[in-house]
Amino acid sequence: MSEERLQKILAQAGVASRRDAEKLILAGRVKVNGKVVRELGTKADASRDRLFVDDKPVELEEKTYYMFYKPRGVVTTMKDPEGRKCIADFVGEMAERLYPVGRLDYNTQGLLLLTNDGDLAQRMTHPSYEIRKTYQVRVPGIVPEEKLDALRMGVMLEDGITAPATVNLLGYNHDKNITEFNITIHEGRNRQVRRMCDVIGFPVRDLKRIKMGPLSLKNLGKGKIRPLEEEEIKLLLKTKEN
Ligand code: URA
Repeated sequence: MSEERLQKILAQAGVASRRDAEKLILAGRVKVNGKVVRELGTKADASRDRLFVDDKPVELEEKTYYMFYKPRGVVTTMKDPEGRKCIADFVGEMAERLYPVGRLDYNTQGLLLLTNDGDLAQRMTHPSYEIRKTYQVRVPGIVPEEKLDALRMGVMLEDGITAPATVNLLGYNHDKNITEFNITIHEGRNRQVRRMCDVIGFPVRDLKRIKMGPLSLKNLGKGKIRPLEEEEIKLLLKTKEN
């Protein structure tokens, strides 16, 4: 981006009309990189300089939100020092501006949100946010109902007992000796679903996140990314628990 007059940048950011922005500048209420600026001709580069009005940062970049279907065997970061596949390999040049909301294990696939909205990302991953996440789980063996009940009620992990969870049995495949179920949790502990399944004696074979708050993976293809729709963004921003 190039340099532009402060009043133009402030107007584009929706702070005030250009005329009113001029008044803010003259009143000494605008700072650029920490310094009060009172001259109307002052220019700044919106992509480089930090602007403040009444000491509040001016948000210049439009917020963007994407849903990504992370395949297994991909690290939830934009760079991997070990050279493993990471999200940047799928999002191309957008990688610079986006970061993941929370993370999925290397071998977990499914729904991952990517955004440049640091505020939302932070809120959503804070334990107090309690966003509900649903995972589709496949484990070898036939899991008896009482073991699924244990997952529902809470199991003891080394960092404490898990909160009640919703578990829906999808079915048993007796030929392949596999149980498939969905589990919905609202805690965000490290490797939580895998550890819960370890405790009941049925370690996870496949784990896929299919839902996060009001958002569902639906028919997004593996490794694909799409912008959230207006309606989805609205739901997401007003989600506390969903
Ligand atoms: N639980 C896990 O065990 N792994 C994930 O990636 C997410 C939830």
